[in-house]
Amino acid sequence: MYLDSFFTFRPMKKTQSFHTKTVHAGVDLSKDHGAISSPIFNASTFAFPDAEQGSAIHEGEIAGYFYSRINNPTQESLEAAMTTLENGEASIAFSSGMAAISNVLLTYLKSGDHLVAPESIYASTSGLLDYFKSLEIEVTFVDATEQENYKRAIRKNTKVFYMESPGNPTLKLCDIEAISSIAKNNKINTVVDNTFATPYNQNPLNLGADAVVHSMTKYIGGHADLLGGVLVGSKELVEKCRWNINKLFGGVPSAFTCWLALRGIKTLALRMEKHNSNAMEAANFLEAHPKVKKVHYPGLPSHAQHDLAEKQMSGFGGMIAFDVGGVKEGRQFVNSVQLCTLAVSLGDVSTLVQHSASMTHASVPKELREKAGITDGLIRLSVGIENVDDIIKDLEQALSTIN
Ligand SMILES: Cc1ncc(COP(=O)(O)O)c(C=O)c1O
Repeated sequence: MYLDSFFTFRPMKKTQSFHTKTVHAGVDLSKDHGAISSPIFNASTFAFPDAEQGSAIHEGEIAGYFYSRINNPTQESLEAAMTTLENGEASIAFSSGMAAISNVLLTYLKSGDHLVAPESIYASTSGLLDYFKSLEIEVTFVDATEQENYKRAIRKNTKVFYMESPGNPTLKLCDIEAISSIAKNNKINTVVDNTFATPYNQNPLNLGADAVVHSMTKYIGGHADLLGGVLVGSKELVEKCRWNINKLFGGVPSAFTCWLALRGIKTLALRMEKHNSNAMEAANFLEAHPKVKKVHYPGLPSHAQHDLAEKQMSGFGGMIAFDVGGVKEGRQFVNSVQLCTLAVSLGDVSTLVQHSASMTHASVPKELREKAGITDGLIRLSVGIENVDDIIKDLEQALSTIN
């Protein structure tokens, strides 16, 4: 005999703190025998009660599961958690951040439409937007630190303003509220990549954006052990994306990936507190170091958009970019770290470094790189949650090897 009937669904309350939400969001004790950790539903397919109800579930007319490319109970728990954390109406999880970005953009755009995006964003997102040109979707890249550039780029067929804030790897910001307001006045949809900030530090939907995407591979998962993505927005957008686009494209996460992401979310607030404070200390150390030419961190008063960061972010995140001079110095630095790890990706509990000109942006011509602020000596640092003194000692010894 099971005790399922004792447990009732306890919806999260908007007034509960973010810390409380991270622990409880997505957990429904009324399902699954009161399990506190959501079970991993590995089933690919689900039984229908009868043909009539099966048909209605299949068409999305009544709620229910039928095939895990469309929905799955573990995925649904993760989606419920992300909806709560980003203050949205609904979410859909994907197999990677890129799947989330491509799915939401293809939900909004068709050939003949136009999109405006920052010139300095994650390299694969730029690559995706370049690829869109071959589908006859027009794309304009702008200096997104000036909201007026979005306004100036509007055409009759503009359908989406895309933002990534803070941007990867330059830590440039978009004024999400101002750009969303320009978009609303012109009936344009806004999508914000909130991967760097996380919902702990920034909630784009509260600032007027229509849709938020994350690479859950980063801070949401937090332990460098999953690839995932998510879109949060209105019910209408999410259901359109689920049924019209991703049902056909099939970029779904496994139940195990969803469970890992849910597990990561439970400590998101605690981890972000430490990422934020460690990064602030590391940024201050780097700024005072004679071998460092420039530090880009939204929490530093020297950041060109520090006032905007204070306005739209409640914390400044764990990502720093800093310049050590040139390609030779950049390579020397990343080859000399001992505690930090030379690796792409970010948002892990351990500190990761990478040299953009040698790695993520090696294929981008120097002029284009520099125009976007990705200088030869730029190092991207994803500050982990180790003891900050140990991180700083390692940065110091690696800097000391540069002649
Ligand atoms: C800001 C940002 N958005 C999206 C992505 C893509 O995420 P994924 O690697 O999960 O596809 C990344 C990956 O590094 C990223 O840094």
